[in-house]
Amino acid sequence: MTQLSQQLESLFPTEDQIPDEFRITPLHQRDYLVDGEIRSWDGPTQEVLSPVYVRTAEGLVRKVIGSYPLPADDQEALDALDAAVRAYDNGRGEWPTMSVTARIRCMERFVSKMVEQKKEVVNLLMWEIGKTLGDSIKEFDRTVQYISDTIDAFKDLDRAGSRFRIEEGIIGQIRRSPLGVVLCMGPFNYPLNETYTTLIPAILMGNTVLFKPPKHGTLLHHPLLEAFQTSFPKGVVNTVYGRGATVVPTLMKSGKINVLALIGSSRVADSLKKMHPKSNRLRAVLSLDAKNAAVILPDADIELTVKECMLGSMSFNGQRCTALKILWVHRSLADAFLQRFGEELNKLKPGMPWDKGAQVTPLPEPGKPAYLDECLRDAAGQGARVLNEGGGTAVESFVFPALVYPVKEGMKLYREEQFGPVVPVVPFDDIEEPIRYIINADHGQQVSIFGTETAQIATLVDQLVNQVSRVNINAQCQRGPDTFPFTGRKDSAEGTLSVEDALRSFSIRTVVATKDTDPNKTILNTIVEQHQSEFLSTHFVF
Ligand code: G3H
Repeated sequence: MTQLSQQLESLFPTEDQIPDEFRITPLHQRDYLVDGEIRSWDGPTQEVLSPVYVRTAEGLVRKVIGSYPLPADDQEALDALDAAVRAYDNGRGEWPTMSVTARIRCMERFVSKMVEQKKEVVNLLMWEIGKTLGDSIKEFDRTVQYISDTIDAFKDLDRAGSRFRIEEGIIGQIRRSPLGVVLCMGPFNYPLNETYTTLIPAILMGNTVLFKPPKHGTLLHHPLLEAFQTSFPKGVVNTVYGRGATVVPTLMKSGKINVLALIGSSRVADSLKKMHPKSNRLRAVLSLDAKNAAVILPDADIELTVKECMLGSMSFNGQRCTALKILWVHRSLADAFLQRFGEELNKLKPGMPWDKGAQVTPLPEPGKPAYLDECLRDAAGQGARVLNEGGGTAVESFVFPALVYPVKEGMKLYREEQFGPVVPVVPFDDIEEPIRYIINADHGQQVSIFGTETAQIATLVDQLVNQVSRVNINAQCQRGPDTFPFTGRKDSAEGTLSVEDALRSFSIRTVVATKDTDPNKTILNTIVEQHQSEFLSTHFVF
């Protein structure tokens, strides 16, 4: 065992070493939310194992932190679907016809109850997916902020629709209406935030939802079930548990899902969409795979580039869809860059999620360390090396970050989305090389350009804006600020998910129109003056 392996092993705590504040009592979830009821489950369950191991007399043991319902068949999911369909009631249900002000009031009630659960949700984030304490708090706070920004954007949207337009002798009022039943599924790396970035706008726009928590990151939703139950009318929010591979196809094949909101893999999204019997009735809001590249030009500021590439590739152990997953560096700069990047990589502090200053934490996907090892072996077999000392050392769920060079076409790391702490670097002589790589990629989310010479940056920007959906200059790739559009080309996304765009994604423009005649104007005026309609209204939401 190397010194680094011993060090990594020793970072896993014994039971006694877990700080009191972050100790976890296993949460054996037996309740789930369907049709406005918290129902009790007495069937089979799925055990939840933390990425954190504990040191025992028998060696390292993965900590059991709870369990959740795992129905053997799809009946519970179909019950949840029926509840959502009933609550929507073809657009005539209480929720889709409720006034905007009343819907906002429900959402505000939800968020105030949600905030009360912060401590428990944050603790579960750390234990379920190994996210650091600081990042777990950030994820929670960012989600609360997202909800409050969404409410504001919703008010703006409604205000814009609170007037009539007269064009070519036609009077019309244009608003956005809900789409129906939305199936929301978030990813394990942002199980709270990214799930809610679809769930919340979908609800607010008047849809009813089925919400299936990610496999890693399920329990942390449990403390919020009661807030959903008591804040919204019955059937508006329904939870779905079970094996995704069977339950989700059953839901899609029913033809009763109107919107598929999935943050996950393009392969899964592709096959689910095809299962819907009436494809024209399905809208998909998808945020999928990405292999964002950094292009480091010969005149790049090395210190700044190292800092941003470190953040971009290593935040949450590289497990972000927006992570920099391949670095293209001009050969004239490669040695200097690799030297500095390797030094900084080895300064990253491994630790438990709650350890102060921890930057490298255990990985939640059980198969990930073996997969990353396979990538490193594959690269080594084709002439690349791990440059930083100890890079790639793994002890159970811990993998120490690896800097791999020179990566080339044919290696797994060249095209596959590693989604972990491995940084492949490719040298280039001609700028056409990274450009062609990006053009030929299956993904098209973002890119980062590092350099100082403006003419070169400008030329690259103009070429790359037609390949990806965000070009970052001297900065890592990232989703935020959440008011900026977040999307991608090719297999990286469908639809756009900013605060404002998400409200649009989960609704459709609808017009009520009439000819500009006196009798019609009288009808409209009477409806508006007597507040007879929610749609035909000039009511202004404050
Ligand atoms: O996993 C993908 C996330 O949307 C990335 O968000 O760039 O804010 O970490 P982030």
